[in-house]
Amino acid sequence: MMLEQMTEIAKQAGKFLKENEGNISRIDEKGSFTNLVTDIDKGSEKMIKDFIEKNFPGHGILAEESGASSPLSEYRWIIDPLDGTTNFTHSFPVYCVSIALELRGEVIAGVVYDPNFGELFSAEKGSGAYLNGKRLRVTSAATLEKALLATGFPYDVRHNPFNCIQHFEAFLLKAQAVRRLGSAALDICYVASGRLDGFWEVNLHPWDTAAATLITAEAGGKVTGFNGEKYSIYQRDIVLSNGVLHDQMLEVIKQNL
Ligand code: IPD
Ligand code: CA
Ligand code: CA
Repeated sequence: MMLEQMTEIAKQAGKFLKENEGNISRIDEKGSFTNLVTDIDKGSEKMIKDFIEKNFPGHGILAEESGASSPLSEYRWIIDPLDGTTNFTHSFPVYCVSIALELRGEVIAGVVYDPNFGELFSAEKGSGAYLNGKRLRVTSAATLEKALLATGFPYDVRHNPFNCIQHFEAFLLKAQAVRRLGSAALDICYVASGRLDGFWEVNLHPWDTAAATLITAEAGGKVTGFNGEKYSIYQRDIVLSNGVLHDQMLEVIKQNL
């Protein structure tokens, strides 16, 4: 099944990232000094695309650094070759590879591989979520006072109209604690695995969220937009929780919009 091949290439790309940490030859800015891309992001992306083109010719691809291809098939692969580039450039060991597969616009499988911990998060639609083969389940924390949350700040935080800093402040005062790890795909998988109880962010892209949101949903979590609407990987805002906390999180966001 495709999940096996997704796992194989995610692990190969993750190994490539780890081997090249501290060995970056080129860092470019993508429109802002905060949004970086390295030759290693590009090398990882090429490795994953070459694998897909060889094994699944005709499938569509949407990859962060090279954009979208025109698919001949109903399948489309959504790739973040290195989620957590800023961390990577500092050898701060929180980054991963994210690969998802869409069929007719619906995400049906996803893997997120963290080469630092050797952790492979995976899910197929309707078949549960797993971490290195072990079934995942979200937490049952029922109040924000008991909740460990995470978020990320968009690269354009200096101009973003979405009140990211007010949201951060409001959650900081309500939750047990708030973390900022620097890899949205891992943040989301950590809700699936019960290490976090909830997550929110603005300005994410499909390659950040496609695999990880399927994994969290398959682990029993809830994923919506800021207004509580059904989440689409093509929207920018996201709220994700163990389900029980969801309305409390939406309320905090609403009060600070
Ligand atoms: C970024 C990370 C970060 C999030 C940013 C993303 P990148 O992805 O996921 O945690 O806050 O919004 O763009 O650029 O490292 O692939
Ligand atoms: Ca990313
Ligand atoms: Ca990336």
